[in-house]
Amino acid sequence: MFSALLLSNILLLQAAISKADNATGSMRSVSWYAGWHSADFPLSQVSWSKYTQLTYAFATTTPDVRTLSLQDSDSELLPQFVQTAHQNNVTASISIGGWGGSQYFSTNVGSAANRTAFVKTVAGLATQYDLDGLDFDWEYPNRQGIGCNTINNNDTSNFLSFLQELRQDSTGSKLVLSAATSLLPWNNTSGTPSKDVSEFSKVLDFIAIMNYDVYNILSPHAGPNSPLNDTCAPTNDQTGSAVSSVKAWTDAGMPADQILLGVAAYGHSFVVPESTALESNSSINVTNVYPSFNKSAEHLGDKWDSPGGVDVCGNFSGPSGVYSYWGLVEAGYVNKDGTPTSGFAYLFDNCSQTPFVYDKSNQTWVSYDNVQSFALKGEFIKNNGLGGFAMWEAAGDLNDTLLDSIQSAISTSSVTSNNPNSNPSPSSSSVPSSAFRNAATTIILPLILMTVLSSVLV
Ligand SMILES: *[C@@H]1O[C@H](CO)[C@@H](O)[C@H](O)[C@H]1NC(C)=O
Ligand SMILES: *[C@@H]1O[C@H](CO)[C@@H](O)[C@H](O)[C@H]1NC(C)=O
Ligand SMILES: *[C@@H]1O[C@H](CO)[C@@H](O)[C@H](O)[C@H]1NC(C)=O
Ligand SMILES: *[C@@H]1O[C@H](CO)[C@@H](O)[C@H](O)[C@H]1NC(C)=O
Ligand SMILES: *[C@@H]1O[C@H](CO)[C@@H](O)[C@H](O)[C@H]1NC(C)=O
Ligand SMILES: *[C@@H]1O[C@H](CO)[C@@H](O)[C@H](O)[C@H]1NC(C)=O
Ligand SMILES: *[C@@H]1O[C@H](CO)[C@@H](O)[C@H](O)[C@H]1NC(C)=O
Ligand SMILES: *[C@@H]1O[C@H](CO)[C@@H](O)[C@H](O)[C@H]1NC(C)=O
Ligand SMILES: *[C@@H]1O[C@H](CO)[C@@H](O)[C@H](O)[C@H]1NC(C)=O
Ligand SMILES: *[C@@H]1O[C@H](CO)[C@@H](O)[C@H](O)[C@H]1NC(C)=O
Ligand SMILES: *[C@@H]1O[C@H](CO)[C@@H](O)[C@H](O)[C@H]1NC(C)=O
Ligand SMILES: *[C@@H]1O[C@H](CO)[C@@H](O)[C@H](O)[C@H]1NC(C)=O
Repeated sequence: MFSALLLSNILLLQAAISKADNATGSMRSVSWYAGWHSADFPLSQVSWSKYTQLTYAFATTTPDVRTLSLQDSDSELLPQFVQTAHQNNVTASISIGGWGGSQYFSTNVGSAANRTAFVKTVAGLATQYDLDGLDFDWEYPNRQGIGCNTINNNDTSNFLSFLQELRQDSTGSKLVLSAATSLLPWNNTSGTPSKDVSEFSKVLDFIAIMNYDVYNILSPHAGPNSPLNDTCAPTNDQTGSAVSSVKAWTDAGMPADQILLGVAAYGHSFVVPESTALESNSSINVTNVYPSFNKSAEHLGDKWDSPGGVDVCGNFSGPSGVYSYWGLVEAGYVNKDGTPTSGFAYLFDNCSQTPFVYDKSNQTWVSYDNVQSFALKGEFIKNNGLGGFAMWEAAGDLNDTLLDSIQSAISTSSVTSNNPNSNPSPSSSSVPSSAFRNAATTIILPLILMTVLSSVLV
């Protein structure tokens, strides 16, 4: 009797461990590491044990298909980045493109000969720096980004052909290949979002949907930077969110467990007149989540924001108004633990499920993310069987406040969930051993033990 109980106990326990290991082990915990912020956030400050992958930003495209540039990203640091990642058993990837670096993607994949050359170029970069992965951040196929990108009707299908060829390459076949994507699937030849991206899922390990900058300084009015939901927003403001973008990509055939939710360790600020931001000047709540803002008022965010400059297209652009999460704490808008500080109007909006803060003294209105919104995003990831999250950027967080929040929401849920369908299956890729898996297993094992014991005892 006793030994039978013990045996069934052990079997149950093993089953629980395997299941939990599968559930959390396939979760990817990813951040981008921006080379240009390394002085403020050196490699030694990265919480490597909490990540499965770090992605170095950026290698940029050049007019020559044989060349990628590391000019803006501290190329001397890249070998140290890879070495440190490997010492920590973390996948070391590099992101190619970005907002300012996507100019020549279209021509680089624009013909069969160029695709073959570009495969050699990117595989060569991976080999040269001993990288485990390549992340394609093309902003965007058959859709203009910064303003002067080369662009072609066939970009999306050319991109697919290129990735297929890269997968055939002896180096490319072993790499973790990913893409940072727009909210909607890439435009097809007719210039509308593709209805079927399933072929991409066979060559990419995962995509990360960049669910941020949804409202920014170029938008007609302000709004949530990184909304979890927008189907509950006023009709004209249903401009994208985690809910609608994940639906769009899965409807187009991208498996949920190959989708990472892109999350923001930063917010966007705007200059909003008090009468627009607040119901009355005694209001303690921000009352307008979609206010118009003063476009002629120059507005710097935190110390990483720049007064502006000439971009790759030769156009001048002013400050972005971006505040990293630590910058919001430094400005006094958020407490260290992520709770709102008193003295400023605040709102946690139930539709976007993100916070807002308003500083009357200088009309600063900020949409950002905090502990609460990251926890809700973690729950969304688990409830929808997504593959994990990717945060822009590792250096934006403060003392892992946001990172810990989203991870604990994901880990907690994989234990409490009784729905096997909500556990993502392991993806096809060869991910190096996962630190998030180890960390998560350590947290959940005692919980499983308790659960199993109590279920045996009753
Ligand atoms: C993980 O899940 C897959 C299918 O979802 C299963 O085939 C495999 O055996 C599981 N691994 C463990 C260790 O339980
Ligand atoms: C990395 O993995 C190796 C082999 O599994 C292990 O010996 C080592 O302790 C790991 N290092 C870290 C930092 O997790
Ligand atoms: C191929 O790449 C070269 C530059 O390396 C570019 O000049 C040419 O336009 C590209 N071809 C196509 C069809 O995009
Ligand atoms: C491409 O897609 C975006 C949205 O994802 C859309 O706004 C744009 O109009 C589309 N077409 C072109 C030609 O850019
Ligand atoms: C797109 O591809 C089609 C079929 O291969 C070709 O006829 C067309 O010229 C291409 N369009 C452009 C802009 O290159
Ligand atoms: C692009 O997608 C639209 C909307 O689904 C569809 O009507 C159109 O036929 C597609 N174009 C191509 C070339 O597949
Ligand atoms: C999004 O909003 C809709 C209402 O429009 C609601 O039914 C749905 O549950 C919300 N989803 C999440 C994840 O909050
Ligand atoms: C704000 O409150 C002060 C009194 O506290 C009042 O004099 C002023 O008119 C109010 N301004 C607005 C815009 O309501
Ligand atoms: C402020 O918003 C909170 C919920 O976010 C609400 O409970 C409270 O009643 C509001 N206060 C005022 C004065 O509107
Ligand atoms: C907008 O900002 C500009 C520049 O600071 C200022 O001159 C103007 O009065 C502001 N407009 C409003 C409506 O506050
Ligand atoms: C607004 O004032 C706060 C202090 O309350 C300061 O930290 C912030 O930098 C100011 N913002 C601007 C754009 O002047
Ligand atoms: C960082 O977080 C840890 C654990 O949450 C806490 O013990 C520590 O005091 C925090 N450090 C700072 C500088 O806030």
